[in-house]
Amino acid sequence: KRAVLVKAEAVGINPDIRKSEEKVVDSVVVTEISKPVTAYCRCWRSGTFPLCDGSHVKHNKATGDNVGPLLLKK
Ligand code: FES
Repeated sequence: KRAVLVKAEAVGINPDIRKSEEKVVDSVVVTEISKPVTAYCRCWRSGTFPLCDGSHVKHNKATGDNVGPLLLKK
């Protein structure tokens, strides 16, 4: 079991988003949301990160994963 954990840590979850930053952190002031629903990426594959662009669909089909966005509703 330990070997699996070590391998997962070495691979990481973020493939290529803002890799020059020590930690990727985003914040949203909820009162600034203008749309009825805003989708935020949780799969780290979006081309518009931190917003979801639907890339999780391709990722889920390719890997059998089940990730999806965080929806903020006004
Ligand atoms: Fe990442 Fe939709 S693109 S959750």
